[in-house]
Amino acid sequence: MNNLIRFSELPGFSEFAVVFDFESLSIKQQFNDAIKMRYEKLCKTKAFEGKLMQNVQLQDNGKTILIIGLGKKADFDNEFIRRGTSLAYKIANAMKINKMNIFIPRISANNKEMAQAITEGAVLASYSMDKYKTGEGEKKPHNTEVFVHGKNKKEIVKGISIGKITGNAQNYVRELNENPSNIITPRTFSEEAKTLAKQYKMKIEILEKNELEKKGMNGILAVGKGSANDPIFVSVEYSGTKRGPLYVIVGKGITFDSGGISIKPAKSMYEMKYDKTGACIVLGVLKAIAEMKLPVRILGIIPLAENVPSGTSYKPGDIIKMYSGKTVEILHTDAEGRLILGDALTFAIEKKPEVIIDIATLTGAIITALGRHAIGLFSNNDKLAEKIKLAGNRTFERVWQFPLWKEYSEMIQGDFADIKNSSGNENNEASSITAAAFLKEFVGETKWAHLDIAGVCNAIGKHPLIEKGATGTGTRLIIQSIIELSKKEVKKDK
Ligand code: BES
Ligand code: MN
Ligand code: ZN
Repeated sequence: MNNLIRFSELPGFSEFAVVFDFESLSIKQQFNDAIKMRYEKLCKTKAFEGKLMQNVQLQDNGKTILIIGLGKKADFDNEFIRRGTSLAYKIANAMKINKMNIFIPRISANNKEMAQAITEGAVLASYSMDKYKTGEGEKKPHNTEVFVHGKNKKEIVKGISIGKITGNAQNYVRELNENPSNIITPRTFSEEAKTLAKQYKMKIEILEKNELEKKGMNGILAVGKGSANDPIFVSVEYSGTKRGPLYVIVGKGITFDSGGISIKPAKSMYEMKYDKTGACIVLGVLKAIAEMKLPVRILGIIPLAENVPSGTSYKPGDIIKMYSGKTVEILHTDAEGRLILGDALTFAIEKKPEVIIDIATLTGAIITALGRHAIGLFSNNDKLAEKIKLAGNRTFERVWQFPLWKEYSEMIQGDFADIKNSSGNENNEASSITAAAFLKEFVGETKWAHLDIAGVCNAIGKHPLIEKGATGTGTRLIIQSIIELSKKEVKKDK
């Protein structure tokens, strides 16, 4: 996809042009008389009213003009440009169009961000996961080149280059995450991390099972105990500068979550291959930050394990001593994510970071609370939470903050150990919050935020930007969060 999107130097358009219009229907001023007349007719008959994502095509001497509605001007968000471009790209692709010209709408918005959104829309639309399909007809769609038209070439070119990096990072996460558990095990995932680290000259540390045993990382060991695929712990470091604060990103890497001895119902268990989404996102974020050459220090931490039942599995009632020294009573083996993350967070705070962000498909309850439209945010620091919210509004991977009051921590105080891995509450009360409260036990005073992405990790087919399968949602959010967090440092370095 990298060479397929460019700034257009040409004033006119070729075979396929894409323009946006609002409900005010003001784009016609830019059309020639013949097209203007046809467009006015469509608008009069209400075949087109500029409603969000509504679209019509006009023909002009063998050329096609695709007009996409953006809704009301007052409600505008860059996301609509992202979605609109994605829609346009898919239409052009299906029509086997070679060159598509897209015109940035003339509104008082930043053309760098608009160009980034256009590029992300096209890159995300160009994704297809067909490596396991053998039929020829099922293979890759036609490649359509995209030319972006608009004022301020410098800004647009910058936006395009950032959009390629962020869009491709998200596609990388989608593709990696789509691989099922018979292909991606903790070991093969760690090999992917090695390949990426080598490609971008990043430092990588891998702890094998015997090393985890030596260190006493019993949270991750307990979860991985039942599987023939041993748990592995990976950390990858990107150093775009020698000075400056360290940001840690921790991603849950359960390559398959059957629930273990507390086994899940069969119905949608296949979706649990996506329980490694956080881990995939950590790699995607590192890849993007390295490509942007941001002057920051980032440590990506990825605990990897498979949660399956067997004679060697950990069991309800077991008491384990975590890497931090805290003891945990296991009430439910399906509450495994917090155990591998607890050890990873202890590992993280040893590095004395400025900030830790963890990202995890942690609870089904977050889907009950927020559906598929938002990411759950939990934090011990309001300023950090505000920055992540801001980032989420920018990338339209919106987050919603939940409280972490001490009453929730009290719900997981242990009866026979320090804490328990689930409240044991029959009605699953506040289950997303008690999961976060469990993680909080391992971060001490370090500024920390937890993102629960269980609701957004995969789409069931109705997502406006992305088809069925892994979404990679959260990737651009974390990249943007790091950009927001490091803004001061970036200025200092210049
Ligand atoms: N991986 C699941 C959470 C999940 C559910 C992700 C649905 C994506 C879609 C997690 O490990 C889990 O099973 N959590 C339990 C915790 C409970 C046993 C306290 C849950 O949410 O039911
Ligand atoms: Mn589970
Ligand atoms: Zn899980």
